[in-house]
Amino acid sequence: MSRTVKTKKVSRAVFPGSFDPLTNGHVDVVERALLVFDEIVIGVLNNPGKEGLFTAEERVAIIKEQFHKRRDRVTVMSFSGLLVEFVRKQKSNVVIRGLRAISDYDYEAQMALTNRKLDDEVETLFLMAREVNSYISSTVVKQVARFGGKVSAMVPKPVERALLRKAKGK
Ligand code: PNS
Repeated sequence: MSRTVKTKKVSRAVFPGSFDPLTNGHVDVVERALLVFDEIVIGVLNNPGKEGLFTAEERVAIIKEQFHKRRDRVTVMSFSGLLVEFVRKQKSNVVIRGLRAISDYDYEAQMALTNRKLDDEVETLFLMAREVNSYISSTVVKQVARFGGKVSAMVPKPVERALLRKAKGK
């Protein structure tokens, strides 16, 4: 009797961003994306021309800590260059982006359409952020943290700890 071994096709999406730092909004998007896809690759843009609060390596380490329990389905790595090329390298054709409000639309539409022009087979899917997270942005988090404000409602624990370490100059 011949037996065919069926290998299940894995659905994989890429969630790209600066993640400087990761916020509760980003975490929510990943959790939602996991309801739709088998695997999520979080791609942290390594942009040497634009210095952030955290280095790309630090951001990757923080995000890995956050999704430690999900490491069978969530991979975290940095990338440089074109997003569509990174998506292809990850054997995916889906980009996930979170939308908070209509004000995100122009920026996101420009990016999605540019990526489509570069590679017509890479599709961008938008997930709506949970309402409680709709005001959160990495920029706001950095501003609040810089002046010693409380960020515990905006970021997950690994980010809060990393922000405290930064504030102490470690
Ligand atoms: O979190 P961000 O800063 O809004 O993420 C932006 C990101 C990293 C998704 C975007 O800048 C990007 O994809 N950069 C890689 C360069 C690229 O492919 N550019 C063409 C599309 S605009």
